[in-house]
Amino acid sequence: MSQEPVYAPNSDFVAKAHVSGMDAYRALWERAKDHPEDFWGEIAEKEIHWFEKWSHVFEWNPPFVKWFVGGKTNMSYNCLDRHLAENANKVAFHWEGEPGDTRTVTYADLHRMVCRFANVLKARGFKTGDRAIIYMPMIVELPVAMLACARLGITHSVVFGGFSAEALKARVQDLGAAVVITADGGWRRAKEVKLKGAVDEGIVDCPSVKEVLVFQRTGSAIDMVAGRDFFVRVDESQRLAEGGIDGTLAGDECPAVELDSEHPLYVLYTSGTTGKPKGILHTTGGYLTYVTMTMKWVFDIKPDDVYWCSADIGWVTGHSYIVYGPLSAGATSIMYEGAPDTPDFGRWWSIVAKYKASILYTSPTAIRALIRQGDQWPNSHDLSSLRLLGSVGEPINPAAWEWYHRVIGKERCPIVDTWWQTETGGIMIAPMPGAVPTKPGSGTLPMPGIIPEIIDLSGNPVGDDREGFLVIRRPWPSMLRTIWGDPDRYADQYWGKVQGVYFTGDAARRDKDGYFWILGRVDDVMNVSGHRLSTMEIESALVKHPAVAEAAVVGKPHEITGQAVCCFVTLKKGDYDHHELGIELRKWVAHEIGPFARPEEIRFSEALPKTRSGKIMRRLLREIVTSHTVSGDVTTLEDMNVVTRLASQHDED
Ligand code: PRX
Repeated sequence: MSQEPVYAPNSDFVAKAHVSGMDAYRALWERAKDHPEDFWGEIAEKEIHWFEKWSHVFEWNPPFVKWFVGGKTNMSYNCLDRHLAENANKVAFHWEGEPGDTRTVTYADLHRMVCRFANVLKARGFKTGDRAIIYMPMIVELPVAMLACARLGITHSVVFGGFSAEALKARVQDLGAAVVITADGGWRRAKEVKLKGAVDEGIVDCPSVKEVLVFQRTGSAIDMVAGRDFFVRVDESQRLAEGGIDGTLAGDECPAVELDSEHPLYVLYTSGTTGKPKGILHTTGGYLTYVTMTMKWVFDIKPDDVYWCSADIGWVTGHSYIVYGPLSAGATSIMYEGAPDTPDFGRWWSIVAKYKASILYTSPTAIRALIRQGDQWPNSHDLSSLRLLGSVGEPINPAAWEWYHRVIGKERCPIVDTWWQTETGGIMIAPMPGAVPTKPGSGTLPMPGIIPEIIDLSGNPVGDDREGFLVIRRPWPSMLRTIWGDPDRYADQYWGKVQGVYFTGDAARRDKDGYFWILGRVDDVMNVSGHRLSTMEIESALVKHPAVAEAAVVGKPHEITGQAVCCFVTLKKGDYDHHELGIELRKWVAHEIGPFARPEEIRFSEALPKTRSGKIMRRLLREIVTSHTVSGDVTTLEDMNVVTRLASQHDED
């Protein structure tokens, strides 16, 4: 073993784990590598309910793959119906609203709610093959809406509630959605995040949208367009149909449609290297199998666990590890609507103590923000129920890892640092907690069936401890199938950079023990608080502003959020108050994309550094915000004075 501190799981954890000890892990990984068809076939048969069995396990026509070909299944059936015989009264969600209201939803309750809403969708004429946009707060009706769509084979796309009306519109149009499912609003930091108003603004010029179905969370006044907008309810009162849905009550039973294994389950938009978000498509059978299995491998999920993933369902983490993975695995989860600091920084720890959470899965940004508030918050709550901790979304710095281990896990809980992406659908590199010793800052080893490598741009593996591009050698069950409506972009972006391998867009190194260390993105994608943002998307938003001539955006290191958005802007001719305009442009970006994309810093400049062919040299700007100096080759630069001025600007700030 090498120099870094190494933490082995304690013997009690190992003894009870789904996968115990390094030899067991290695045997699984080797078998998956050597006999992928047998390996995945056996898992799919054991873990998943199929209405009809597949004819073969996978079909790989690079870069397109199909899994469990010819099989028939249904995500919603696997998440609900199959648990009813033995676990109807088991809690699916302990839900806690930010203001303190709570709901306990059993598998039987959730099944009933999903059936009712599926019946509403059906009654309104929506059917298999249609697309739905879901734009909702973190309330139980959000998983209900997703599962009702999945039940009928309506492909959904959840849009994170922090996205603006403009961002919503782009997604509705790209997807050609027939229905938008939303709510009046939700609670965040004791303020209402209004959603219905953004829908009204966002679906102008969206002729595909026939209806808007509206759940009520905050009860605030909203506009309802007659004939287009309808209130819906799925809760105990049974008053499902208000405001025009024929006054009928939807029934409590709705059979799950037997869908092809490759039926499109959902599209989730994520940022790429251009201004246009990519609609990542996930299908049914392979995704279902992989997220179910990784619940056991990574979270070691057991029947009596109380599992809490603190992400928002609007991101892939919430899709795979709040909704589909945990429900398919029959787990009990906590779902929390609001912010960690409301009413104070003890909120999360009070939730852990109240519901006796045994597994907590969160992000490094959240951990760093909580560290800053001091140990008195976690220390004043009983965290003894915790047995496993997880991290996701961005590299975790060893200091944050150690704090998580010591102050939250009381040196008792293994930490699973999970590396994956919207595109991978499920966790790719992470320690199996009862098997793989951990090193702070490393995602450790790949899951069975995942063959990562670190290569240079010619496709040659780099040696141990050398930095290179992280790629994956073979298709896996939960891999994205394409970019919605753009198979060429899919082929080019993921399989065309280095021929025949999946290009992750991340840099990484592997140490002598085979452990992977993720170093960050190699493309123009930033990672702010674990949220993916494209520099181009923010630049496009900025140049829409009448005062802006040109914009270049880079990620700047940030103590809490990992990276922060830093914009270099040149202005059109005119008299401007830079201070005022800076405030306005930050607001502008928040309005165009969403509040989470609000730039930390706007720097005005007379010119941007460009190559002689006119390309903005973002590499130089990145260096300027990181180290305030510029190194490397600048011979292609048009005007060196620009760089000197920009680099010295920092000292004037
Ligand atoms: O750069 C990697 C980083 O987040 C990117 C994927 O972002 P997204 O598709 O939004 O999915 C986030 C949640 C799965 C990756 O390309 N990333 C994710 N997890 C880690 C990470 N970087 C380091 N360590 C991680 N555990």
